[in-house]
Amino acid sequence: MLNLGVLISGTGSNLKAVLDAIAEKRLDARVNVVVSNVATAPGLEHARAHGVPTLIIDHKAFPNRAAFDGALVESLRAHEVDWLVLAGFMRVITPVLLDAFPLRIVNIHPSLLPAFPGMHAQKQAFDYGVRVAGCTVHLVDAGTDTGPILAQAAVPVLDTDDEPALRARILAEEHTLLPRVLQWIAEGRVSVTRAGGGDGAAGAGGASGAEGGGRARVTVARGEA
Ligand code: GRF
Repeated sequence: MLNLGVLISGTGSNLKAVLDAIAEKRLDARVNVVVSNVATAPGLEHARAHGVPTLIIDHKAFPNRAAFDGALVESLRAHEVDWLVLAGFMRVITPVLLDAFPLRIVNIHPSLLPAFPGMHAQKQAFDYGVRVAGCTVHLVDAGTDTGPILAQAAVPVLDTDDEPALRARILAEEHTLLPRVLQWIAEGRVSVTRAGGGDGAAGAGGASGAEGGGRARVTVARGEA
């Protein structure tokens, strides 16, 4: 069973997807705490509805990003979080958080990375005129949306699409993909190999390989799921 912490800033529909998957026993995990940096984030209601503890840690109360991340780490540790999920968390994270959860931070991004990292990815893709958009679940590293890719889902762009319609179809795929990948992790089916040596089983039992050079490669033992 994964002990998750989820960081949000807004709507929290991906958080809801994770909580629903747990409730429906599609995901062998527990959300120990949901932390929002925005007091009014609607996503907090999803946590409350599932009886999950919530915390508001306002980044504006800290002198810099590292101090904010230090407070996050303290709270996540207090809630015995092993794996962290960024579900619409709109803050750049620092090595303080990365080093506390090495290769144990999962992000969902609404594009087929490495295309369209950063903000407004769906608009970037739509404006570019791609014919296939999608979403990516990846491990977080020090870059912006650059970490090892765990899984992606493609979403065709229809001639009739406008940007909101495309965004909605991508989001629906996110809601399927994120809990599915977390379940792979829960089953110990995800392993990370860092180029130049060092295997790290990124499953529930342990992750390693955060140190050292080279781009990490992720292998997923897919089984029948
Ligand atoms: C999603 O599109 C996610 O990919 C991105 O931020 C959005 C969050 O949506 N990182 P929600 O708060 O989960 O509804």
